[in-house]
Amino acid sequence: MTPVSYFPHKNNEMYVDDIAISDIAKQVKTPFYCYSSTAIEASYQEYKNAFSAQDALVCFAVKANSNQAVLATLAKLGSGADVVSMGEIRRAITAGIPANKIVYSGVAKSQEEIHYALTLGILQFNVESEPELELISKVATSLNKTAAIAFRINPDVCAQTHAKISTGKAENKFGVPISKARIAYKQAAALPGIKVQGVDVHIGSQLTNLAPFAEAYQRIAELVTELRADGHDIRVVDVGGGLGITYLDEVIPSKQTYADLVKTQLGHLNCKIILEPGRSLLGNAGILVSSVAFVKNGEERQFLMLDAGMNDLIRPSMYDAYHQIIAVNKGTKVLKTYDVVGPVCETGDTFAKARQVHASDAGDLIAIMSSGAYGAVMSSSYNTRLLAPEVMVKGSEFSIVRKRPSYEDIIKQDIIPSWL
Ligand code: LLP
Repeated sequence: MTPVSYFPHKNNEMYVDDIAISDIAKQVKTPFYCYSSTAIEASYQEYKNAFSAQDALVCFAVKANSNQAVLATLAKLGSGADVVSMGEIRRAITAGIPANKIVYSGVAKSQEEIHYALTLGILQFNVESEPELELISKVATSLNKTAAIAFRINPDVCAQTHAKISTGKAENKFGVPISKARIAYKQAAALPGIKVQGVDVHIGSQLTNLAPFAEAYQRIAELVTELRADGHDIRVVDVGGGLGITYLDEVIPSKQTYADLVKTQLGHLNCKIILEPGRSLLGNAGILVSSVAFVKNGEERQFLMLDAGMNDLIRPSMYDAYHQIIAVNKGTKVLKTYDVVGPVCETGDTFAKARQVHASDAGDLIAIMSSGAYGAVMSSSYNTRLLAPEVMVKGSEFSIVRKRPSYEDIIKQDIIPSWL
């Protein structure tokens, strides 16, 4: 799926399914996120088909997009969820994802969160450290329950991606070092309230090359063999997420190629495979629609000043991420070079520098592509700007799936102390 697959131009006008983006913008003030339900379904089906020959469960990484409509769409298709907090567990359950399809990752789970997950009866805890394991055992014992666990293993593999989204090197905070794994599993087997069932790994995000996956999974397969020899009944391998998407022109291995790799590296173990894709399911199923507020002629460059800012989509500011920026209505316009910026009072509030966009005037609609994952979920109301609403389209229908809050909604959350 390319950034424009589900947001094509027809007669120079951008569409999503059977609706012109400009028709949605007539009813929903910009900026807003727009998701194609058709794209989400197609992307999920690609995973299902690719893994049809394996005993695999897709657990969507809720952190990528936690909107209820998105989760409910995936729930209906049979998806599980990979969650990292009490909030995400609640979102998944509320949207109809059953507890027995929820895996709980999360780097420092609290006692309260563990308690909640245990009472629901989730599929698996992906345990990040020995102290966390002890806490899970304590809480499980107090509830007279058993927690099914996998350790998240840090295989010390370079994911060849952006440093801020790389998680599988020894220097990263994540998981139990592979060199210490056998000791950790021995400890787990001896603890009450714990059932050892699997091994988990996640080495990073936006991987465009399969070699790091191959290396990590090979190490995990060796570990599973060792753990079995040590007497552990390992039946599950959680291979994490991380498969990248095309933002510009990256060539991403297909989901089938990825599935074949999983089979090659892990198939002989006869384990159930859990997948935790986030970006590769949602990234190219959504865009951020914005309007040009002003075109400003600077001394050296022209600025396209949008009504969306870094508070709406932080990826360019935070990871220097590239997102295509496309005029919704190309008309007969020619390409011009702009710095595309937002209205937030920071220089970092820049979506792109020296970017070619069809010549635009104030009021024109602009789409920031590939914003379905890590877009709305990472937005904030910095500068007391209102969170952008989210819209979902299906065929010729669209619905607002998260409303824009009012200024009153935001301000009333603060409390002026009585003594002030
Ligand atoms: N599983 C675990 C344990 C994770 O930490 C993540 C992502 C995933 C699965 C899903 O990975 P995906 O399939 O989406 O690559 N905000 C950053 C991405 C952070 C990813 C964090 N972990 C960005 O905008 O690029």
